[in-house]
Amino acid sequence: MSALLEVENLCIRYPSMGRVRAALTGAEREFDAVAGVSFTLDKGQTLGLVGESGSGKSTVARTLIGLKRAHSGTIRFDGQDITQAGAREYARLRREMAIMWQDPTGSLSPRLTVGSLVTEPLRIHGKGGDMRAEATRLLEMVGLPAHFASRFPHQLSGGQARRVGVARALALDPRLIIADEPTAGLDMSVQAEVLNLLAEMQARLGIAILVITHNLNVVRHITDRMAIMYLGRFVEQGPTDRIWSAPCHPYTEALLSANPEPDPDAARARITLEGEMPSPRSRPAGCEFHGRCPRAREICASEAPDVSRQTPDHAYTCHFPVCTDASGG
Ligand SMILES: Nc1ncnc2c1ncn2[C@@H]1O[C@H](COP(=O)(O)OP(=O)(O)OP(=O)(O)O)[C@@H](O)[C@H]1O
Ligand SMILES: [Mg+2]
Repeated sequence: MSALLEVENLCIRYPSMGRVRAALTGAEREFDAVAGVSFTLDKGQTLGLVGESGSGKSTVARTLIGLKRAHSGTIRFDGQDITQAGAREYARLRREMAIMWQDPTGSLSPRLTVGSLVTEPLRIHGKGGDMRAEATRLLEMVGLPAHFASRFPHQLSGGQARRVGVARALALDPRLIIADEPTAGLDMSVQAEVLNLLAEMQARLGIAILVITHNLNVVRHITDRMAIMYLGRFVEQGPTDRIWSAPCHPYTEALLSANPEPDPDAARARITLEGEMPSPRSRPAGCEFHGRCPRAREICASEAPDVSRQTPDHAYTCHFPVCTDASGG
């Protein structure tokens, strides 16, 4: 398999306060919301991005599709460096990368019919053709009957709105779909429906998917690889099966232990983390997780761990990982 998306050492900054206040307090005006993130997504593969609220997941997504500039690092799409791509180049790239936003009903304009909504990307990109036929084709792809084309967003259930979101994403025949919380706010059964739909589209059309979610069961069921974010960094990434059975980072272990496990035999002892994720505006010294880590020792408070590899494609940053008994007990 070859790489569709290659991200190297990506840093993304936001302003932390106004200029005057920064001058008066002597504080930094910007902070790293995302710091040193590297990963590769192969063609047709699914990568899951997990992490607590505020860990920087949506910020990564916004930068990948060109809505927010990278501060440093590189993004390559299909071998081409797009880190500094201009508006015109991004107009082309948006045909190849589609995004499904976090809030489905809110992101569908209330005055447009479903038919107009699913074909809107085609019109924006100046594609001609029979829009009614296109609407029917797209609705069928996501399992909605053609007569839904005349409905309005407020007449849709949560699951139907999500399907319309998928149809819109598919309209331009993309090679990558970025789905930000595709199942948030849906009932369990509808969540499964939407996930199956994404998995089916991927298998049928060979699309790569970057799925952002709080829901670890989503990650388990539809991803090949997963990455765990903490304070804007990837603390662990690798094949989903491997991480699921043998996580290396204590943060990953804690997240997995808190996940409701349908099979009681497979349930893990729950690890409760103390405190909350610190702010990326004032990062702790050393390992940024040390203040909440059940395994932390003296060195963790002063020295940031390097990236270690459990296998060539399974990486983590921790002085005392869970997966190998490097701690000596
Ligand atoms: N426009 C902005 N200006 C300043 N700071 C921002 C902006 N957007 C996000 N942030 C900050 O950047 C950090 C990462 O936010 P982001 O929205 O990427 O997190 P997330 O992982 O997507 O969270 P959630 O799970 O809640 O969607 C947070 O500290 C957030 O407060
Ligand atoms: Mg988000």
